[in-house]
Amino acid sequence: MWIEIYNWCVKQVRRFRAVPRPRGTVRLQITAVFCAFTILLLTVLNTYPVTSTRDAVIRDKEQSLTATAAVISSALAGLDSLNSENVNQVMEILDVSGVTRIFITNERCSVVYDTWGEMVGSNVAGAYPALENAMTGQMVFTSEYAHKQAFSSVAAVPVMVSGTIIGSVYLMEADTEQADMISGIQGRLMTMSVVLALIAIALSAAFASALTVRIKQLRKAVRVVQAGDYTHHIETRGSDELTDLGKEFNNMTDILRRTEESRRQFVSDASHELKTPVASIRLLTDSILQNENIDRETTMEFVGDIGESAARLQRLSEKLLDLSRLDSGAVRQEVPVDLSQAARKAVRMLAPLAAEKEVALTLDAPEPVHILAGEDDVSQILFNLAENAVKYNIPGGTVTLTVRKGARAMLTVVDTGIGIPEEDLPHIFSRFYRVDKARSREAGGSGLGLSIVRDAVDLYGGSIEVWPNHPRGTVFEVMFPVCEREI
Ligand SMILES: Nc1ncnc2c1ncn2[C@@H]1O[C@H](COP(=O)(O)OP(=O)(O)OP(=O)(O)O)[C@@H](O)[C@H]1O
Ligand SMILES: [Mg+2]
Repeated sequence: MWIEIYNWCVKQVRRFRAVPRPRGTVRLQITAVFCAFTILLLTVLNTYPVTSTRDAVIRDKEQSLTATAAVISSALAGLDSLNSENVNQVMEILDVSGVTRIFITNERCSVVYDTWGEMVGSNVAGAYPALENAMTGQMVFTSEYAHKQAFSSVAAVPVMVSGTIIGSVYLMEADTEQADMISGIQGRLMTMSVVLALIAIALSAAFASALTVRIKQLRKAVRVVQAGDYTHHIETRGSDELTDLGKEFNNMTDILRRTEESRRQFVSDASHELKTPVASIRLLTDSILQNENIDRETTMEFVGDIGESAARLQRLSEKLLDLSRLDSGAVRQEVPVDLSQAARKAVRMLAPLAAEKEVALTLDAPEPVHILAGEDDVSQILFNLAENAVKYNIPGGTVTLTVRKGARAMLTVVDTGIGIPEEDLPHIFSRFYRVDKARSREAGGSGLGLSIVRDAVDLYGGSIEVWPNHPRGTVFEVMFPVCEREI
């Protein structure tokens, strides 16, 4: 049964949630829930004390009335039969007080005694149900409470002599005093409840509007940020969930602002980088076109320069495309790639450059070390790191690529080149960042290689670190999760 009740409740909550809400009903909902709760509380407050006091009064009356009736009954049990005379004598001796009316009947239900004197001699058979029950040997008590009037209580007991019923005692009591007390309590509770209800409604309305004011503030702030103002912050005070939401919102706008700033910076840097080769191509073509007497040798020299600028543009656009692909998080395909083999390929490709720079390029990769990655991305990582190590080196310098397998796959590129100043180390993975702009540009660099390396390493769950090599040069260390799959 409980499961059915639970299912029913869940269904109702779902139905309630599915109902489309008109605008601005949160405040109404909160106020309504508060009011319903207050009404429930006040109903309990109004009924429970009154009913429990009433029950206590009735219990008290039952005790006292039935005890009095029992005393009278046992006093009358000393008589053989009941008649007006002997009963009056007994009642005079007993001198019962505190009861509104007493009447006593004989075994034929004829009244032989009545404190009001009205019914003496009349037969009351069938007129009083309590009396009927008493004549069958039962002790009867009933009590009724009429609001703002009285407690009307009745007790009836048989008079028995040696197991024979010779009559009955019927006691009536109308208590207005206790009834007044209860209606007084009821009245005070009602007044108190009305005041409390008004306070609760006012407080719930105030609380609901305070809450919705904060929600409205948040909504306003969202719209401001939507319109493009990423500097907008909302004031956060207190420590409730809405404050937390406000803090999260501020964090989000900070992130958006930083993203927007870096996007602008990126666009401006990219255009700057593209501008230079494009400008030189234009300048060179203009020179060829406008100078009619230009000789073939100079023309060839200019065309060579144009080709170089075009190659530079091509490299730049390829790198930008790589970056944008890595940014989108799209993994081309993840296959087991042997780092050692990829390193061998990079060394092979860079051998002519190393020879030109008079740099000794060596590889220390004794065994295959497989990682799960995209083949092209791994080649990019190795090529960029090794190319930098060769490019930013000095004649007679060395570059060593090492591949090892431990808990993780490790690739180190150690060079004895010009090194990177300590203060530049935190920035070298930023886009378009170059330590020595002139030297890097001269070497055909755009400052994007290490950004691509870092993005690719991140994409495959790896990590990269850099530190100065002693006495000179730089060390790059890349770690990857090892591929456990059988090759
Ligand atoms: N091994 C190294 N030794 C010394 N400086 C280095 C080394 N590697 C990188 N750098 C410095 O860090 C900068 C950023 O390197 P990055 O590879 O990102 O760009 P780049 O080599 O200038 O251009 P490209 O986009 O062609 O790679 C370089 O300009 C260079 O100043
Ligand atoms: Mg580079």
